[in-house]
Amino acid sequence: MCRNIYLDAPNVGQAEKELLSKAIDSTFVSTVGPFVPEFEQRLARYLGTEGAVSTQSGTAALHVALYELGIGEGDEVIVPALTFIATVNPVLYVGAKPVFVDSDINTWNVDPEDIERRITKKTKAIIPVHLFGNPCDMDAIMDIARRHDLYVIEDATESLGARYKGSRTGALGDYGCLSFNGNKVITTGGGGMVVSNDKDRLKHARFLANQARDESRGYFHPEVGFNYRMTNIEAAIGLAQIEKLDGFLEMKKTFNKIYKDELSDFGFISFQKEHEGAESCWWLTCIVFDNETDIPEMQEKLKDQGVPTRRIFVPATDFPPYKDHKEGKLENSFSIYERGLCLPSSTLNTEDDVHYVCEKIKKLVSRNRS
Ligand SMILES: Cc1ncc(COP(=O)(O)O)c(C=O)c1O
Repeated sequence: MCRNIYLDAPNVGQAEKELLSKAIDSTFVSTVGPFVPEFEQRLARYLGTEGAVSTQSGTAALHVALYELGIGEGDEVIVPALTFIATVNPVLYVGAKPVFVDSDINTWNVDPEDIERRITKKTKAIIPVHLFGNPCDMDAIMDIARRHDLYVIEDATESLGARYKGSRTGALGDYGCLSFNGNKVITTGGGGMVVSNDKDRLKHARFLANQARDESRGYFHPEVGFNYRMTNIEAAIGLAQIEKLDGFLEMKKTFNKIYKDELSDFGFISFQKEHEGAESCWWLTCIVFDNETDIPEMQEKLKDQGVPTRRIFVPATDFPPYKDHKEGKLENSFSIYERGLCLPSSTLNTEDDVHYVCEKIKKLVSRNRS
């Protein structure tokens, strides 16, 4: 039987096509048009924030958030070593210094104790990343931020729909940043959003993302801004996708349960754990093997059987622009990277596909160990 199994492919269809046609027929294909504010309001309502400002990408959202908070040269920003590079690059865009912290070995998210250890007089902000959809220990992070007078910018690009003690991720810090890249929980083809409970900050973020244009004075630009606006075409796709969000989340949860039920009995495979009070959206279900498993070899063998996988992010301190920033131990980040594997989690897959993936993994590991 020929089976298509997808790692993180988007699930878009007829509803998206219909709204896209509407956008095209209306002539509003670019950054002006009714779908953009509608999409922003839907997201803000879903997350329970005061408002939302859409952007061209999650990276742009992080950049605007840092810039709007006035973070710049001479400042330090605490980031996890174990994340996608887009969390870190915006810190350099604004001229600040990223300070890398290690991960908690259970949740794979920033370890609050390590955050505390790395705070200096120059620290201005923390960017916790809800990695693969799993919420960070936000009580501990917000407590550190309050005690040291730091901003918190949640990188919620992977965690749309995840909850922490009743709140949605993204709604807890000074800013939350979302991504609608093609592989995310919902997509707009490419896009992002900053959300916040501070209306004045959001107003300023919107102004910055729109070339810092003071529209009351025509083409008047009192500050340096960016062209980071989302298009009406993207928002059209997003509006169709948000209708499907609850269904996508349900599927991802079910896939995660199947993986856990089928693979947990092997003593040498473990899963990312949720912190107390946290509910992951399971954007990607990922596992770690014990040290004996050759991950690239496992990937090749799974690929031969039609099962796509991807490795965990290489810790950012391994890349040339950030090598000099490696201070202290980042043991857990490297250990998770070296032993980890992300499994097919696209909502295009069926439960049967997920069982098939488990069967293939089980066969491979049993053969390797016999
Ligand atoms: C952790 C993390 N941060 C930031 C981003 C940036 O989002 P985008 O690709 O929309 O720029 C992504 C996704 O790509 C991500 O996974």
